Amino acid sequence: MSETGSEQKVALVTGGGTGIGGACCAALAAEGFRVGVHYRSSESSARELADSLEGAFTVRADLTLAEDIDALVVQLKEVAGRVDVLVNNAGYNVNAPMLSMKLDDYDAIFGVARGTWYLTKQILRRFMLRKKFGRVINVSSVVGHTGNPGQIPYTMVKAGLDAFTKSLAQELAGRDILVNSVAPGFIDTEMTDELPDEVKQSIIARIPQQRMGRPEEIADVVAWLATRASYVNGSVIHVNGGLFGG
Ligand SMILES: NC(=O)c1ccc[n+]([C@@H]2O[C@H](COP(=O)([O-])OP(=O)(O)OC[C@H]3O[C@@H](n4cnc5c(N)ncnc54)[C@H](OP(=O)(O)O)[C@@H]3O)[C@@H](O)[C@H]2O)c1
Repeated sequence: MSETGSEQKVALVTGGGTGIGGACCAALAAEGFRVGVHYRSSESSARELADSLEGAFTVRADLTLAEDIDALVVQLKEVAGRVDVLVNNAGYNVNAPMLSMKLDDYDAIFGVARGTWYLTKQILRRFMLRKKFGRVINVSSVVGHTGNPGQIPYTMVKAGLDAFTKSLAQELAGRDILVNSVAPGFIDTEMTDELPDEVKQSIIARIPQQRMGRPEEIADVVAWLATRASYVNGSVIHVNGGLFGG
C-alpha cells in the first residue's frame, strides 16, 4: 500500500540491514518513523528487520553507482512520498597498511563516500527542500579524528564526512534542515568482528569505559538528533566510551 501523502515522517537509513544501521532503524521506528531500510547485499536481514517494524520497507542500491541512487530516489517517491530523516550510515573499509592497500580498495572505500554525497543531494532536492524540513545524520568515526594505522583511505573518508557535515550545515543556513555527524568509537558489529582478538583487547584497554559499544548506543544518539535536537547543527557527536573527546 502506498503511503504517499501520509503525515507519518519517513526515515531512510543506508546500510540499515546490519549492525549500527539496523539498530538505527529500530530506534527510529520506536520514535514513530516509517523506516526505509536500505541495503546493498544484506537483503535477507534487511527484509527480516523491515518485517519486524511497523510500516517499514526495504530499498536496494549500491551506493558506488549513481544509477542505483537515481532508481532508489524514484522508488522512495513511489513507496513513501517523503523523506524527513536521512541517516548516512553505510560505510566500507579494507584493512591494509599503506604499501599493500590496492587502488581498487581505495576506489571502493571512496565510492561509498561519493554515493553518500550524491544520495544526500538527491534527497535534499527531491524531498527535504520541498518540505522545508529535514535531518541529515552522518555516521562517521572516531578514526577520522585520531587516525588509525592500516585504515588510511577509511580514515580519510570519515574525516571528509565530518567536513561534509559542517559545510552542508552552513550551505543550508536559514532552513530547518539540520546536518550532524555521529562519530562512533569501537562498536561490536561485523565490521569489528574481523579484527584479531589481541587488537580488540588493546583497543578496549584504551577505552575509559573498558568495553566496546553496542549498536543501540549509537542509535540512541541518532534517534535523538532525528527527533529532539533542535539546536544542534554542523556538529560531530562522539560516542566512544571516553576513547576520544573531540
Ligand atoms: N563498528 C564500528 O566500530 C564502527 C566505528 C565507527 C564507525 N562505524 C561506521 O558505522 C557504519 C555502520 O558500520 P557497522 O559497524 O554497522 O558495520 P556493517 O554491519 O559492516 O555495516 C556497513 C553497512 O554499509 C553498507 N554498505 C557497504 N558498502 C556499500 C555500498 N557500496 N552500497 C551500499 N551500502 C553499502 C552495508 O550494506 P550491505 O551489508 O547490505 O552490503 C552495511 O549494511 C559504517 O559507516 C562504519 O564505518 C563503525
